[in-house]
Amino acid sequence: MRSTDLTTWQPTSWQSRIAQQQPHYTDAAALERAVADLSRLPPIVVSWEVDALRERLAAAQRGEAFLLQGGDCAETFVGCESDRIAKQLKVLLQMSLVLLHGLKKPVIRVGRMAGQYAKPRSADTETRDGVTLPSYRGDLVNRPEFTPAARNPDPELLLRGYERAALTLNFTRALVAGGFADLHHPEYWDLGFVKHSPLKEAFQRIANSISDSLDFLEGLSGLRVHEATHAGFFASHEGLVLHYEQAQTRYIPRQNRWYDLSTHMPWIGMRTAQLDGAHVEFFRGVSNPIGVKIGTAMDSEWLQGLVATLNPQNVPGRLALIHRFGAKDIESALPRMIDAVRQTGQGVLWICDPMHGNTETSTGGLKTRRFDNILKEIELAFRIHREMGSALGGVHIELTGEDVTECTGGARGLSDADLQRAYRSTVDPRLNYEQSLELALLIAERAHARRG
Ligand code: PEP
Ligand code: CO
Repeated sequence: MRSTDLTTWQPTSWQSRIAQQQPHYTDAAALERAVADLSRLPPIVVSWEVDALRERLAAAQRGEAFLLQGGDCAETFVGCESDRIAKQLKVLLQMSLVLLHGLKKPVIRVGRMAGQYAKPRSADTETRDGVTLPSYRGDLVNRPEFTPAARNPDPELLLRGYERAALTLNFTRALVAGGFADLHHPEYWDLGFVKHSPLKEAFQRIANSISDSLDFLEGLSGLRVHEATHAGFFASHEGLVLHYEQAQTRYIPRQNRWYDLSTHMPWIGMRTAQLDGAHVEFFRGVSNPIGVKIGTAMDSEWLQGLVATLNPQNVPGRLALIHRFGAKDIESALPRMIDAVRQTGQGVLWICDPMHGNTETSTGGLKTRRFDNILKEIELAFRIHREMGSALGGVHIELTGEDVTECTGGARGLSDADLQRAYRSTVDPRLNYEQSLELALLIAERAHARRG
């Protein structure tokens, strides 16, 4: 039976449901200790930030703002390092300025960071040379080396992950609050790739115009632009390991509500969105904005059930549906989903994840995604929503500020053969710095062209 009653809900209520994709901890006492420790430590984020984000997402839901959500497929503990975090922030901030300029609406920045340490896996175990061990589920759970000790899920890692998340967000907040970098200095923008693009002039025009607008704004207000636009920055991750989320969930008496304070905006992955499952049970009880990934396996009734269960009060900005159908399936899948939600009479925020439906294997055997398919899915998403009287309120991208070669295409025309050069992801392929910026420029350019 579907429940929309929250009076008896507790952060542990999920434990009476079937929880997919959870580690099998062998030491129950150690797990209990880790959860108790984590429950006592201060939260990563606070409730008023969560409420502020929900308000801003409500604006995106009304078509008055746009969400840029992006970051690594999976963060790692060794990747918690200043240069990498700064680059990640830089690409997100630059993309957000380009989008702001092109879409002419405020852009809400949400990193896939400070907690994106756990991954769903297609199999519970992995077998090599006749030896079977638990699958590696991300640094929050176990370690990648193929030994029994490394693969045994270790509850202490919940604490190590919490610490890395806190360090990451602390550094990010300080960078954002301190101005980070002069976004209007042309040398700060690595636009070398632009000369390879047929849209060279359009890109240069956008970059110059952003720079002029920033000068103008800063001159006018006497404030640096991050202050003038009070450019907030929020964190998000897949809420996968429920002991981690549970332990950071707090009751805020002033609000008379529960909040998952491990992050601002957790999302439910496609593999854990069962209507009667533990993840939906957990997330229905917290008041954060929640994302749910939806793929081609989702049907109308299931989606309507999720909308009713996760947002029974129809709170604006509460529920984001992150569709990830792939460029080849979005035209057949998305209209049905828009209709299904429309029948509920409820509002949702629609977000396009153009990454997870476009994964393929390259000729060399590496997992990759083609830039053209990513762009095409976003364009189709804009068009389908527009034609159906709905609105695309954001994009969800796997990207890095580093010069990796994981996705093919883009202005430099990376080929399958180029992937070997700097393929660093152990999970999904990410857009690199240039490809990310190019994607934002293309979205901006086409929005500009549509307006005429
Ligand atoms: C992800 O976002 O990395 C992911 C696993 O996505 P999905 O749940 O949509 O497959
Ligand atoms: Co991924």
